[in-house]
Amino acid sequence: MKMTRTVFVTGGAGYIGSHCIVELLKADYDVVVIDNFTNSVGVCDGESAALKRVEEITGKKIHFYKVDLLDKDALYGVFQKHQIDCVIHFAAMKAVDESIEYPLLYYKNNLIGMLNLLEVMTDHKCYQLVFSSSCTVYGEPEECPVTENHATGRNITNVYGKTKYFVEEMLQDISYSDEKWNIIALRYFNPVGAHPSGLIGEDPTKPFSNIMPFISQVAIGNKPVLTIFGGDYDTVDGTGVRDYIHVMDLARGHVAALSLLFKKHQKIKVYNLGTGRGVSVLQLVKAFEKVTNMTVPYQIAERREGDISIMYANAELAEKELGWTAVHSLEDMCADFWRWQKMNPQGYRTKDIKLNNSH
Ligand code: UFG
Repeated sequence: MKMTRTVFVTGGAGYIGSHCIVELLKADYDVVVIDNFTNSVGVCDGESAALKRVEEITGKKIHFYKVDLLDKDALYGVFQKHQIDCVIHFAAMKAVDESIEYPLLYYKNNLIGMLNLLEVMTDHKCYQLVFSSSCTVYGEPEECPVTENHATGRNITNVYGKTKYFVEEMLQDISYSDEKWNIIALRYFNPVGAHPSGLIGEDPTKPFSNIMPFISQVAIGNKPVLTIFGGDYDTVDGTGVRDYIHVMDLARGHVAALSLLFKKHQKIKVYNLGTGRGVSVLQLVKAFEKVTNMTVPYQIAERREGDISIMYANAELAEKELGWTAVHSLEDMCADFWRWQKMNPQGYRTKDIKLNNSH
């Protein structure tokens, strides 16, 4: 009998996937990764720069395959090669604006990709799954902090968010139809930050619209001013409120979810992964300025279409059942993000990064 458990990670070369693999390897899981590189840059000879750096950080090897989830035969082939105990499914298209412009592309990738994966898992009698969901399934929440019992699927303003909701529904249905399934869906709030080594971080392939990369681009002078969308929300200072969570906390949340899956059969469970703290855009800007000693000029503009005003988590269920809480502060998130940016001005295309195993 094999002693080490094997985790199959889809989308492992991406931002959250790569950070999660660091924690999985640290927890002594054997890791098999597929990625089609849609969301990851720094690809060289079919290899992922992010995963190479994960191997440097951990001193461990990853089994990697360049496979698209829409290619079911290739997916099947990987399952034939490895005895997989559990799947963590990150792979998805995730650009909100793009999803509104190309809905079919998003439905095809995010829904058919999930279907293929579930079918191949069933063929191989692998019924343990952690799914990467999002607080976007709550739409504009009726109250904050938002618990897992809040209604989902209402007022979701973009197709990306709807695909997360539809997949959650699919998972509920299969777990009802066959009780062998043991599934955890993790609803992420706003992931930011980077590994403290500065070796891995977020390197978007598409023009970004998220706040943290924008703040840092303004700080280093690549963009003249930060546009803050909306100064008239009913919040502490009029700007939008979110629950920013350090990507390493998120990564640990997946390891906690796996431990629970292997310990307890619950069919399907959903957990919020957030800090439970609401932070306004202006508070985030101030924290970034304090940590980096940089100035971030900003202007307040109209609200951004489709934005919600306030979203932050009640994360008590994850604490109670997963034994997990976020430990990193807003300052850690800013400092680690900034280190990654400074060390990698061209993201994963940056050469001459000193790699060692001391992290
Ligand atoms: N914001 C600005 N200026 C910018 C960018 C963002 O003021 O240039 C504001 C937004 O209005 C919002 C906050 O910063 O108040 C956070 O915006 P992000 O774009 O960073 O994040 P969102 O909360 O809009 O969206 C994120 C992910 C989505 C996910 C959603 C809910 O990007 O993928 O959280 O999970 F669907």
